[in-house]
Amino acid sequence: MTISSTAYDIRPLIVPGSVDAPDAADFIAMVDVRNEIYREISANDDEAATPGQLLPHFRPNPDNDKRSWIVLVDAAVVGRVIVDIPAEEGSQVAFWTIELLERVQGRGIGTGLLELVEDTARRAGRTVLESWAEHPEPPEGVAVTRLPSPTGFGTIPEDRPARFYLRHGHTLEQVDRKSVLDMDASLDTVRELRADAEAHAAGYRVEQWLLPVPRPYRQSFAWAKSRMSTDAPAAGLEVDEEKWDLDRLDRHEARYLDAGQTVLVTAAIHEATGDVVAFNELCSGAEPTSTTQQMDTLVLHEHRGHRLGQLIKCAGILRWREIAPESHRIITWNAEENRPMLSINEAIGFVPAAYIGAWKKVLA
Ligand SMILES: CC(C)(COP(=O)(O)OP(=O)(O)OC[C@H]1O[C@@H](n2cnc3c(N)ncnc32)[C@H](O)[C@@H]1OP(=O)(O)O)[C@@H](O)C(=O)NCCC(=O)NCCS
Repeated sequence: MTISSTAYDIRPLIVPGSVDAPDAADFIAMVDVRNEIYREISANDDEAATPGQLLPHFRPNPDNDKRSWIVLVDAAVVGRVIVDIPAEEGSQVAFWTIELLERVQGRGIGTGLLELVEDTARRAGRTVLESWAEHPEPPEGVAVTRLPSPTGFGTIPEDRPARFYLRHGHTLEQVDRKSVLDMDASLDTVRELRADAEAHAAGYRVEQWLLPVPRPYRQSFAWAKSRMSTDAPAAGLEVDEEKWDLDRLDRHEARYLDAGQTVLVTAAIHEATGDVVAFNELCSGAEPTSTTQQMDTLVLHEHRGHRLGQLIKCAGILRWREIAPESHRIITWNAEENRPMLSINEAIGFVPAAYIGAWKKVLA
């Protein structure tokens, strides 16, 4: 079914059985346009992905209901829309994304697509829209108004996406920092920081594994994963507490393993209990030379103050160098008010690459 307006068409995204299936063309085109839009925003391929990498994340699953569309102008795919409805009990939230190529922006297409987003959220019974956008810095010398985060930490340039959110009644709730690490330049520092952390982490040991998580650690790792939803700084965003049982952990692992990605988990184990009490994840990109993504990092509340964050981050980077020696960059995202995490990252050598706005609208 194709829904038409005067300027553009949208088509529900077909999620194919595999990227080689006869009906995979729209999915592949969606990934291509995603990569091109991210290249336009960031001026690099740090976040490029292959169709095979993304397909497992679009398959129906019990954790969230992801509804997606491709956007067409003159029969060419020029963008995408995603409304993601988390399945947590009592959730009021819908996460959404509208992404368009630069060449079709500024003609009212985004405004039209926002009606689809709001309508989809309402039909799913959700009243809180939440969305993230990278707000790249303007070229040097170009003056721009900056919007401060209501947390008091961080600002973003008031660019087209920011104006778009504001015009449509969304509020800026938080600013995240995207940081990048030059692996080659930082390894000596990382070794020193690991040694420093080890000296403060008596009673804990580091264990590392590639997904899947070994059996003895599955239960405590699943619990630690669930704490990302409760313990990371959320400012004025509504965040559902995620319940992680072993089935959910299976599904999480399958998404990365089916995608052919390598995920290194570095965990701090509390020797007295044998439990995972801190962890950090590094994930490979499409090619051996691709930028690595640093995903979740967390130290459980009751185990803070032992430099475990520094320990697992540094141990992870050093092991990753052996696993992915051709990947020279790591990117990561942190709330601008998350000083403990930013301090570790800055000491390691991560530098800011861009700022991300977290936006919210409560539907009437
Ligand atoms: C943010 C985004 C979705 C907006 O989509 P869009 O189609 O450009 O949005 P609109 O066309 O409705 O509005 C954009 C501009 O065009 C203007 N405009 C809208 N209709 C117009 C028309 N018919 N004629 C001329 N100008 C028009 C608007 O006034 C607005 O001007 P501004 O940028 O100076 O504030 C798009 O820019 C985009 O994909 N950006 C990259 C991804 C991103 O950041 N997404 C954020 C949401 S998840």
